[in-house]
Amino acid sequence: HHVASAVIVVIGASGDLAKKKTFPALFGLFRNGLLPERVRIIGYARSKLSQEDFRERITSEKLKTAPQDQLQQFLSQCEYISGQYDSQEDFKRLHSLIQDHERDLEKGLHGEVNRDHIRVFYMATPPSVFVPVARSIKSGAYDPDVKNRIVIEKPFGRDLASCRQFLSEFSSLFREEEIYRIDHYLGKEMVKNMPIIRFANIFFEAVWNHEYIDNVQITFKEAFGTQGRGGYFDEYGVIRDVMQNHMIQMLCVMAMEKPASLHADDVRTAKADVLRHIPPIKIEDVILGQYVGDTDGSEPGYTDDKTVPEGSITPTYASLVLFINNDRWRGVPIIMKAGKAMDEAKVEVRVQFKDVPEPHYQHISRNELIARVGPTEAVYLKIMNKRPGLFSEPVISELDLSYRRRYSNAKIPEAYEALLLEVLNGDQSHFLREDELIAAWEIFTPLLHELERKHVQPKPYAYGSRGPEGADDFLQKYGYKRRQQA
Ligand code: BG6
Repeated sequence: HHVASAVIVVIGASGDLAKKKTFPALFGLFRNGLLPERVRIIGYARSKLSQEDFRERITSEKLKTAPQDQLQQFLSQCEYISGQYDSQEDFKRLHSLIQDHERDLEKGLHGEVNRDHIRVFYMATPPSVFVPVARSIKSGAYDPDVKNRIVIEKPFGRDLASCRQFLSEFSSLFREEEIYRIDHYLGKEMVKNMPIIRFANIFFEAVWNHEYIDNVQITFKEAFGTQGRGGYFDEYGVIRDVMQNHMIQMLCVMAMEKPASLHADDVRTAKADVLRHIPPIKIEDVILGQYVGDTDGSEPGYTDDKTVPEGSITPTYASLVLFINNDRWRGVPIIMKAGKAMDEAKVEVRVQFKDVPEPHYQHISRNELIARVGPTEAVYLKIMNKRPGLFSEPVISELDLSYRRRYSNAKIPEAYEALLLEVLNGDQSHFLREDELIAAWEIFTPLLHELERKHVQPKPYAYGSRGPEGADDFLQKYGYKRRQQA
């Protein structure tokens, strides 16, 4: 995977995503010597900014804490140019800037022919301009003779039809191997760990099926509300925001068959195959919630957010159950639970095994394998163990691989850092292919349309609580048991 040189263009460079995620990720790679030796970074957006203003704007709090000389060196590689998103002329100006840099980079190569040069166009813009930007890149700043990589992140439409439309716009402009569709959860350490746990150990695979697994619980709890992001959020709701993408991707890596190889297309084929076995979710298998202010009035409710339309019925919480109708998973409920403004921040995949048949002991709990994706990474296994002492009684205990303890010196990379490196290396295995996106929308679209048609009211739950009343009872019928304490 040798990349000799690269020009990285961040479009929407003056915005929030660029500041919070894209530039910190680029800097993280730069610091670790993982950007190509010859690299230029160009920021593009509509605002008229001086180079100083731009560098100031992308220096987030986090970057400020980095060693100053490194930061200055990084910033000196970053340059800004402003222009409209739908203007071919402006993108031609961008193109000539790219070409100027490329001539410079070539000189750095001592006259060798640079076959390993790449151009990355990273779209950090609002979704409303994805298509105009893509067209402008193609008509103004695209050179078919270099390797181009277009990086783009959700929303990929808001249902099956709009997703198809979106995908076809892009595929009419770029080749599939040029398009990197991000789901940043695929860049998370623990999500990348899942195939290793499953396919590099002998014992899990033997019990990884409906005979031994009772249910799977995928949880995505956040401890904060929309906090000014309500305008975006209200148009999507929690199902589109995290379930149809991040949670479904975690499900895929947990449930997929062993891919033919680790090559991107084999991995994505295995994931898409899981999705094709999931029938659309039924409305009776869903419970919705929306947070309200907490009891002592210190935290606001969802509709108190000024950017949220009054009387909104957009869900900020959802629990739902789906099934994978293949031979491995038939009949195993996959229980997904996601919410904002809840009692804790926790993202995890919990595989709960079946009860031991005819145990000789009382009070035994089910085995579980838990992959905790965030906020702190861990893999742990719930097992029954003898309670130490004179009597032979079992107690639930944990084989615990908490990363902070086990790998205390390791630095876990940010998801965007990991993914950007893969873009540079040309590895698409952690990026979404069209068929995966379509299959994921097929599972959720009938449900979303029915909820909207029927104006289903979410149940209220207090900011900082475990979710709406009745959610536990609702989930219990699918075999969900509250977490047992060790
Ligand atoms: C984003 C969602 O995709 O993921 C947000 O739009 C959510 O609503 C975020 O908060 C969670 O990502 P992370 O990496 O902070 O867990």
